[in-house]
Amino acid sequence: MQILQSTAKPQNNTDTFEILGTDFIEFYVGNAKQAAHFYQTAFGFQLVAYKGPETGSKDYCSYVLQQDKIRFVISSAFRPDHEISHHVHQHGDGVKVLALWVNDTVDSFNKAIERGAEIAFDPYTIQDDQGSVVLAGIKTYGDTVHTLVERKNYRGTFMPGFKPMASLMDNLSTGLKYVDHCVGNVEIGQMNRWVKFYQEVLGFKLLITFDDKDISTKYTALMSKVVSNGTGYIKFPINEPAQGLKKSQIDEYLEFYNGPGVQHIAIATDDILKTVGQLRSNGIDFLYVPETYYEDVIERVGKIDENLEDLKKLNILIDRDEDGYLLQIFTKPLQDRPTVFFEIIQRKGATSFGKGNFKALFEAIEREQEIRGNL
Ligand code: FE2
Repeated sequence: MQILQSTAKPQNNTDTFEILGTDFIEFYVGNAKQAAHFYQTAFGFQLVAYKGPETGSKDYCSYVLQQDKIRFVISSAFRPDHEISHHVHQHGDGVKVLALWVNDTVDSFNKAIERGAEIAFDPYTIQDDQGSVVLAGIKTYGDTVHTLVERKNYRGTFMPGFKPMASLMDNLSTGLKYVDHCVGNVEIGQMNRWVKFYQEVLGFKLLITFDDKDISTKYTALMSKVVSNGTGYIKFPINEPAQGLKKSQIDEYLEFYNGPGVQHIAIATDDILKTVGQLRSNGIDFLYVPETYYEDVIERVGKIDENLEDLKKLNILIDRDEDGYLLQIFTKPLQDRPTVFFEIIQRKGATSFGKGNFKALFEAIEREQEIRGNL
């Protein structure tokens, strides 16, 4: 099973750390059964595999969900002293693993450690009658881990230890295709450290820098740098808070996640009107941008294929760069803590991240922060 990311154009050809794609994204949650149900019914993922007591996993369970090229693993533990329970206690439900699909785990792991990565866990092999998978882990920001996954000798569903399992309901795909980018929030002053980590350890290139002049409202500011791997298919923007009059959304995240972590996962669709229409009718709540946003948006972005009224009805945002335009929208937080959320994005040529929408978006987030009493 192969998970490839993004259709953005390659950025360079001097790849010094080969990554074949994102293998999976793992969430540590308090109740994996219910969370897995939510991602199936609300977002249209299919259950494909499971591990738990029934398969011999006595301490924790994991549900593997798939939609097109996106694979999520949702895990929770049964006892308070388990690593997953500690993580949930500290961070609430959140992203623990951004797994990278590699050709040779031991070789990639050694290279990463030589270049300064910290070990999360040493390489080990798991096997069953379908073959073997080699795993190793390196640490990134906060408690987040990049698991390296070598699966060229495996034919089964997901990994040894899991059994195939299908959704019990007829859930319809919402048209989510692949992970476009995964954003991390880090503490003030730490953005450059992590940009350097991706450059030096994983051979990523710095793609874009946004400073607090690009990303600020009257009250709050943040800075962001986007790094991308050798093929350009994997993009990790890193945010840090900047000094503003009030508490920024990054500060709020860091407070409630209790440290750095994954802020949002941007998922691409080929038909954002259809996808967001379906997600809304499935009960997903999105950030609200006032109608005035649409008064001058066409002046700013020029001609688009979609009917503006349709976009306005669903509150979808538009931005343009030199390569084309993009349509995007952001969910509200996916759990009770104001931490991780999704972005739904449709790229129509544009390779950027919606800079023209930053102000409207951050004002929308500030309105939510204010309601939560965290501004
Ligand atoms: Fe994004």
